[in-house]
Amino acid sequence: MKPPVKIALIISGGIAAYKIPELIRRGRERGMDFTCIMTEAASRFVAPLALAAVSGNRVLDDLFSLTDEVEMGHIRLSRESDLVVVAPATADIMARMATGQANDLATAVLLATNRPVLIAPAMNPAMWEHPATQRNVERLRQDGVAFVGPASGDMACGETGSGRMAEPGEVLDAILDQIRRCEGPSGTHPLAARHAIVTSGPTHEAIDPVRYIANHSSGRQGHAIARALADAGARVTLVSGPVTIADPKGVDCRHVVTAREMLEAVETALPADIAICAAAVADWRPQSEERNKLKKDGSAPPSIRMVENPDILARLAGHPTNRPELVIGFAAETERHEEHARAKLTRKGCDWILMNDVGATSGVFGGSHNRVMLLRADGTGETWELMEKSRVAQRLVDAIAARLADGDGL
Ligand code: CTP
Repeated sequence: MKPPVKIALIISGGIAAYKIPELIRRGRERGMDFTCIMTEAASRFVAPLALAAVSGNRVLDDLFSLTDEVEMGHIRLSRESDLVVVAPATADIMARMATGQANDLATAVLLATNRPVLIAPAMNPAMWEHPATQRNVERLRQDGVAFVGPASGDMACGETGSGRMAEPGEVLDAILDQIRRCEGPSGTHPLAARHAIVTSGPTHEAIDPVRYIANHSSGRQGHAIARALADAGARVTLVSGPVTIADPKGVDCRHVVTAREMLEAVETALPADIAICAAAVADWRPQSEERNKLKKDGSAPPSIRMVENPDILARLAGHPTNRPELVIGFAAETERHEEHARAKLTRKGCDWILMNDVGATSGVFGGSHNRVMLLRADGTGETWELMEKSRVAQRLVDAIAARLADGDGL
């Protein structure tokens, strides 16, 4: 019999906490074992004894309880589970997670864990929509936290809108989804022992000491892919141009500025099984960087002579000795999308290309969502619906794992 999936279930103080005993009961029927950790406020909405009875385990609620620390320190607790789930997740606990606080057992576990984290937000619609909460959601997504819900509808507070905790069945489906993603069908990490190189972000090409040529890439998609590969067990080298987002957890991140530095970092990181070029590399750079700042001296504006940058994706795909088994590029297109992307796939010699529409109205650059089409060198392809960049990353990693497990399907 399969051992139960171990869940550290953090319950924070929202009215939706009343759904947790049902979630636990149904989760146990589906092979899950829950250890509940409550915030102080949670115990006003659901009785610790009820959770202990329904889970069959002790309920933990105090960081400073000596017995808990001796028997099961919060570090151990945070690492022994397969998944950490926060349900319901209030605006308050999300804010504390986003800022890395550890002022009670729940947040200490969340800060110490090296396991995937899934959260089910639940709050009043105005609190959910508040820019501060949305900033925290974005921050947590960047940190690799997965979300289920919130749903829309009538709230306990009498208002209507988005903020209701996802139903127990939905939370359980999301839990199993996360577990499958991390384990693979055979129960092991699907990309264990694989090395993946990911490029991400823009490059900056200097004109003079104060000016440079760049583009709108935020690095969100590439960073999300690096994180998803790491969650699937791969050793990941992320080569990133200048971005304002944090390095993903569990990834070896090399910071570069120019295309030439990016190429050098990628070549140094070889060999690899998988290469994913998500960076928006500048195609050209000024032929020479001015030593001093260009001044307006009353004459005509300067003309800048450009030269081509090395194509990192094409180099990897055509590498004479160290070509990764699977080389994947991105195609940022604004018109005749599939046709241009297919031409790029052939020209660059990669195995797959993910086409994304970066037209002015797409909101892809800097946004949280992406609509992509996966095109393969064998002529097949599929269109994915509009989804969060973290979901695109997970879907891509699932496809990579399936492809490497098959050994064919290029
Ligand atoms: N790429 C790269 N090195 C470059 C340019 C692009 O590795 N010097 C990679 C990108 O990371 C992406 C793919 O090539 O995976 C496609 O980049 P894109 O800018 O969309 O295409 P271009 O090669 O610039 O072609 P075009 O200008 O025709 O759109």
